[in-house]
Amino acid sequence: MKNCKEIPSTYNQRLAQICDFMREYSKEIAQDDATDNISESYPRIKEVLNELKDSASPNSDMLWNPTSEELLFAGKLAWRNSNRCIGRLHWKSLHLKDNRHVKDPSLVFDALLEHLRFATNGGKIRSVLTVFNNDVSIHNPQIIRYAGFTNSDGSITGDPLMVPFTKKLLHMGWIPKSRHEYVILPLLIETRDSGPVIFDLPDNPEYVLEVPILHPEYDFSGLGMKWHALPVISNMDLCFGGLRFSCAPFNGFYMGTEIGARNLGDIARYNKLPEVADAMNLSRSRNDSLWKDKALIELNVAVLHSFKTAGVKIVDHHTASDQFMLFNQLEKSQAREVTADWSWIVPPVSGSACPVFHHEMEDRTHFPNFLYRNQPYL
Ligand code: ARG
Repeated sequence: MKNCKEIPSTYNQRLAQICDFMREYSKEIAQDDATDNISESYPRIKEVLNELKDSASPNSDMLWNPTSEELLFAGKLAWRNSNRCIGRLHWKSLHLKDNRHVKDPSLVFDALLEHLRFATNGGKIRSVLTVFNNDVSIHNPQIIRYAGFTNSDGSITGDPLMVPFTKKLLHMGWIPKSRHEYVILPLLIETRDSGPVIFDLPDNPEYVLEVPILHPEYDFSGLGMKWHALPVISNMDLCFGGLRFSCAPFNGFYMGTEIGARNLGDIARYNKLPEVADAMNLSRSRNDSLWKDKALIELNVAVLHSFKTAGVKIVDHHTASDQFMLFNQLEKSQAREVTADWSWIVPPVSGSACPVFHHEMEDRTHFPNFLYRNQPYL
């Protein structure tokens, strides 16, 4: 966690980033509600520069203290600038939970429960960013994830991706109630004044909503598949204005292929295609029967169907691609450039049937943005 607290290297770089952010804030906020915001925000720059002068020491983490409004705006722009996200059309809908005052691990846990409850919203998922101060760390890469247990014969029960983190928790004394394929991992929370503390998430759909994955025509019930409704990223830092918020979990809602193609389909994840093919009575003896492709499509049909039936918000990859193209147009109309990472934007199934496949993209990083925990900033 220590290296997340790195501060931008030079005073001048920091200054430039703060001014860029303030300029953007005044330009866009003023444009949005045609008030006197420009004249309000320039005095704000002076205020921030004074604050910076007072607090700038080589070891200070928080060089200036954004208001909640500035923080929310930074979160929205960090989403808008996320090159790997296909769902950026919705960037304006982000909600902020400003929890920078919270110090105690159990209060951090409470704040995360509130994030889960508000964001889950009985399936009508809302996009939420919760910001803590930099003395708080959440060790989980996502707030809701399934454990991966290594069995004595070397096989894995659960999500192979989570094997190292599961091992770490078990080593620290976590005792799972059972060991099946979909055991929700507890949270591992640490603050400056505490060691790492383990918190079990409640077995309650108000906080952790899960959807059984069933097919409208084939019988997939024997596969016992399910997935959680909410993807909450907790291993990325919110970076803007020369600041790095190293504990800022955020969520959107799922695109079907994230679950149906990758989480359940990848060989190195739940690897369900052979079982799906068997449930569909497909022969798996020849590659050129395209049994994997057929199974993959029906697994994705099942994910979309199941979420829809359960009343949980999800988007299919065709709609998401169309929305991304619309996002491009809207940004262009505001004279803003959209940067993007093609290899992440193009969906993992039926790529060429989606408009994004045929769209050229440049992968440069603008700030505000979300950076992975240990990725250098400035
Ligand atoms: N792909 C990740 C997962 O399957 C989630 C990444 C964020 N996704 C999103 N739709 N906001 O859990």
